[in-house]
Amino acid sequence: MKVAVIVAGYVGLVTGACFAKLGNEVVIIDIDEKKLKAINNGISPIYEEGLDELLRQICLEVSSDYGKVSASETVMLCLGTPSDENGTIVLDYMIEASKRIAEMLRARSGYSVVTVKSTVPPGTTEEVVIPILETSGKKAGQDFGVCMCPEFLREGKAIYDFMHPARVVIGEYDSQSGDVLDRLYQDFKVPIMRTDLKTAEMIKLASNAYLATKISFINEIGNLCKRLGIDVYEVARGMALDDRIGSQFLNAGVGFGGSCLPKDLIMLIAKAKETGYKPAILEGIANFNDAQALRMVELLKKHLTLRGATIGLLGLAFKPGTDDVRDSRAIKIVEALLDEGARVRAYDPLAADNFRRLFPQIEYASKEAVLNSDAILIVTEWAEFKDIDYRRKIVIDGRRIDKAREAKIYEGIGW
Ligand code: UGA
Repeated sequence: MKVAVIVAGYVGLVTGACFAKLGNEVVIIDIDEKKLKAINNGISPIYEEGLDELLRQICLEVSSDYGKVSASETVMLCLGTPSDENGTIVLDYMIEASKRIAEMLRARSGYSVVTVKSTVPPGTTEEVVIPILETSGKKAGQDFGVCMCPEFLREGKAIYDFMHPARVVIGEYDSQSGDVLDRLYQDFKVPIMRTDLKTAEMIKLASNAYLATKISFINEIGNLCKRLGIDVYEVARGMALDDRIGSQFLNAGVGFGGSCLPKDLIMLIAKAKETGYKPAILEGIANFNDAQALRMVELLKKHLTLRGATIGLLGLAFKPGTDDVRDSRAIKIVEALLDEGARVRAYDPLAADNFRRLFPQIEYASKEAVLNSDAILIVTEWAEFKDIDYRRKIVIDGRRIDKAREAKIYEGIGW
């Protein structure tokens, strides 16, 4: 199938590259010429496991010319939906891209399906995207199709997740639109759920909010277990034997970060409030997750005076295997440490440069130098932290690194 993808961000690039690998004719549109050049040279502009190799294997067209979209049977909108400082979702990129697609639709006679892949508040495709597309003078469901097909890719495992999805959700304006995407996803041999546009948008947000809930739930149980002298990881092991609960996302720790779980939770809370509904559980989770990060600092204060002390951070990325620091728990922790008058020395195998843009004032050092700090906080569970010599150290562990238990003083956040 002929597929156009807008733009070459994290979701777009992985989606485009994987569809090309599966034998589709793919063009990725982006205005950033530097990015396009890198992709053409088989170098991914983002860090994602296996993406460079994939780019070198496949035949993929990249272009800054929106005109190239016109030959496609489906055009996938994979634009970022960032939030502003108040947590309100900014749809500017979606709106701008929809206008460009409308120009293409105006000039074109054939049928194609515009597919929203970006995570958006329920109602966005119907209330924002379609009206813009129809400024072309063409009608949705008649002259062109519309679908909303959320992605469920984890950073660091995105190619694997794309090729082995648990399910495909197709929100469709009408069945003709859905049929086109259904054909595109036939090779995956997984359940394809077809539904309406708004429901598909909600499935994405509800899935991420549920994962956030599961993590926060086990973190709360962990905080309680610590007081009761019970190991929360043993409790989770026992819970997971029940298929209805399952073992995933039950690793207690310092909480969830990243560009998706925290933002999508806020998006859902904002949407609920817009309808006049107060989402008590969702709000509780967002607040609890922030408090959980600060718990690391509270535990540390039991063992040393922070003012003037040098505190070492092991890990800055929001999870191992990525250089992404968006909403990383390390951000909240560093803010709190600086407020308390501590000096911060940090190490991360991949994410130090990105973190430096947020906190140029802290020291970025080797792992050895960080281990020589007055106390150590483990914030990301990088594999290389599992065989450090922690003896004679003060360690507050936010990610259950068992080897760290040998430390002179050891405290797990919830164990
Ligand atoms: C998440 C979802 O897992 C994907 O399905 C979804 O497609 C994606 O968001 C998205 O919306 O684009 P991702 O943000 O890459 O993927 O990261 P996760 O692997 O879900 O981890 C999120 C956070 O939860 C990390 O900070 C991680 O350390 C934390 N976590 C995860 C825990 O604290 N405990 C766990 O048991 C699992």
